[in-house]
Amino acid sequence: MRSILNERNLNNKKILLRLDLNVPLAGDKITDTTRIDKILPTLDFLIKEKAKIIILSHVGRPKGKIVKELSLKPICEELQNKLKKKVKLISENIKDIKSKNFFSDYNEDIFILENIRFYPEEEQNDNKFAKMISNLGDIYINDAFSCSHRAHASIYEIPKFLPSFSGLQLDLEVNALNKITSEITRPITCIIGGSKISTKINVIKNLITKFDNIIIVGGMANNFIEYLGNSIGKSIKEKNCDKIIKEIISLSKKEKCKLIYPEDVIVSKDLNGSSQNKDLNEISSDEMILDIGPKTIDKITKIIDNSKTILWNGPAGYFENPNFAHGSIQIAKKIIEKNKANKIFSVAGGGDTVSLLNNLNAVNEFNFVSTAGGAFLEYLEGKNLPGITALN
Ligand code: 3PG
Repeated sequence: MRSILNERNLNNKKILLRLDLNVPLAGDKITDTTRIDKILPTLDFLIKEKAKIIILSHVGRPKGKIVKELSLKPICEELQNKLKKKVKLISENIKDIKSKNFFSDYNEDIFILENIRFYPEEEQNDNKFAKMISNLGDIYINDAFSCSHRAHASIYEIPKFLPSFSGLQLDLEVNALNKITSEITRPITCIIGGSKISTKINVIKNLITKFDNIIIVGGMANNFIEYLGNSIGKSIKEKNCDKIIKEIISLSKKEKCKLIYPEDVIVSKDLNGSSQNKDLNEISSDEMILDIGPKTIDKITKIIDNSKTILWNGPAGYFENPNFAHGSIQIAKKIIEKNKANKIFSVAGGGDTVSLLNNLNAVNEFNFVSTAGGAFLEYLEGKNLPGITALN
């Protein structure tokens, strides 16, 4: 993997820069700008080197269709404010634009193409689509570690057509995770939560052999709660997971990895509602699980107390509503307390977890905070990530 930091001669070169600007949006407002802030050093470096920049990114999961609410417009405006430089959003169809459309005005140094996932070819890792985009640039940079577990056209296929490099943030994340995995001390506890169940559930099996405790909270825990014979009402869940859950439970016994899931939960009738504590056998059909309950919090904090390393990926509940943030806040507080006493090595990852820690003003209280969620877990799993493989 060659880092762009070691390259000079970028003067006037057209750079296709893949970033992960998948930031949380409430309407057209960005609720957490961490992923934007983290890639500013790469942009500053390229600007200083007088390169011409074309940014590629996705936001959300529009599934190959134009979804107005998932436009990169607010993100483009935020970038412009932060860089104090014009950033031009290209909303027309990528298939209709030509290389000569870019940088004809000498004032324009930075373009951003509209949400790359508006095109079905992106997630299909379409070779022709990638080739067409590659024609717009001279050099490709991946500075989206958090997307590098996806074999998508802008991550995996474009590097086949251009000299390709890693960006500064990707270098930083990979170096930090390498250091962590080589120096990790036991007992190791991994807390996995959040709402991206399909991305994470298959990873757990491979993590069992590496860790002492795996704590499952958030959306994925609902699948476990249901598998154990409880009704989960209208809570989010992934379909067809019984086989994998059975395998996870049996492997964890064999490998002596303790698997912990909620013993009690906080429910509500809707996301904006108030909270109610319930045991697992008390959830009614019109309720949804939105946080972990006090007995579960107590159990988790005791496990954190007895751990030397904590890896945390994904909040315990729907923390966007303060009524359901208590579980995640208590987990964060316990880790911070242990960290301050130098009793634990702590790593947190994932867009939502970072956003939660930002709300608590606690990002600097962890040893390392990764912008990556799924990519972070797959890296810990020891998997070769397509985006990194492509750069090699
Ligand atoms: C993330 O938020 O983890 C990345 O942007 C990847 O998003 P995805 O899970 O929708 O592929």
